[in-house]
Amino acid sequence: MQNISILAIESSCDDTSAAVVVNGKVLSNVTASQQVHEAFGGVVPELASRAHQQNIVPVVDKALKDAGINKQQLNAIAFTRGPGLIGSLLVGTSFAKGFALALGLPIITVNHMQAHVLAHFIDEPVPNFPFLCLTVSGGHTQIVLVKDYLNMELVGESIDDAAGEAFDKTAKMLGLPYPGGPLLDKYAQTGNPLAFKFAQPKAHRPFDFSFSGLKTSVLYFLQKQTAENPDFVQQNLADICASVQYTIVKILLDKLQKAAKHFQIKQIAIAGGVSANSGLRTALTELGKKHAWSVFIPQFQYCTDNAGMIAITAHYLYLQGQFASQDVTPWHVLPFSYMIHI
Ligand code: KG4
Ligand code: ZN
Repeated sequence: MQNISILAIESSCDDTSAAVVVNGKVLSNVTASQQVHEAFGGVVPELASRAHQQNIVPVVDKALKDAGINKQQLNAIAFTRGPGLIGSLLVGTSFAKGFALALGLPIITVNHMQAHVLAHFIDEPVPNFPFLCLTVSGGHTQIVLVKDYLNMELVGESIDDAAGEAFDKTAKMLGLPYPGGPLLDKYAQTGNPLAFKFAQPKAHRPFDFSFSGLKTSVLYFLQKQTAENPDFVQQNLADICASVQYTIVKILLDKLQKAAKHFQIKQIAIAGGVSANSGLRTALTELGKKHAWSVFIPQFQYCTDNAGMIAITAHYLYLQGQFASQDVTPWHVLPFSYMIHI
């Protein structure tokens, strides 16, 4: 049987990543993260695309070397078509199309959100169909009913901010550098999650989320407390972080629990950057024990943006013969709040 070897590229936001998948096994996954945005407190789109241009050749080169594959052995080139930042997507799209054209290979376009879900098929144990996946990233918060590799139904989503944004923006209010999510997680580990109470905004539809009211609630709380004691944040950082994290995780898991009950599904997964959050991982594991769920949590390297997930998705698209034409353009669908406001 002929091998199916695919090079995959991810460049939707501020990580330049390349991976090689052979017969459904991800053999390499190389990511260059961009530090240039730290000084600005958020991703600056133009700087992101320039950094992608600098990173893409060495990252692809290393992904091929790590996999022990040369470009003549490849059968297809895959890339993230969207959603994402248009300039960032254009770098990956143009590189992938050019590379495929030069090698005479077909191209495969991948939906970034679908790929976050399919990251669960990179390594064992894999969920059985149908399962529910809570996909939580910097730009999206979704509950997805996964019926098959390429057959997914969006059953709920955030009506305003994404969960990752709620982490990043509250972290920013606390003076933590971007991206604040992982740092807020770190400080939360030594804090009391019940020290302070924040709003848990409601969304109208049963499996939808809302986070913008939480952000406002944290802002007003901090304004009030620092007016009374200017050192309040410094003195209570761990407790504030733990309480914010507790609230975000509770909003997420309450809805996931509701959806699991409604669809009568006991195979439950999480995906996306926020699935790296220790509070979410622990709380989901506990909830899983309570409801006798089989819980699937990705390895850290496959939570945040990575080309391994693009590669595995491309493998299933290849098996179905779903190739794109050379005139395909990036799919730019992006919440404004994903970017910093200058
Ligand atoms: O999936 P991802 O890498 O990129 C998007 O597609 O958006 O997700 C990035 C998001 C950021 O908001 C980041 O702060 C958040 O994931 N994140 C975390 C943690 N690690 C990453 N949020 C909370 N706790 C973490 N440990
Ligand atoms: Zn992502």
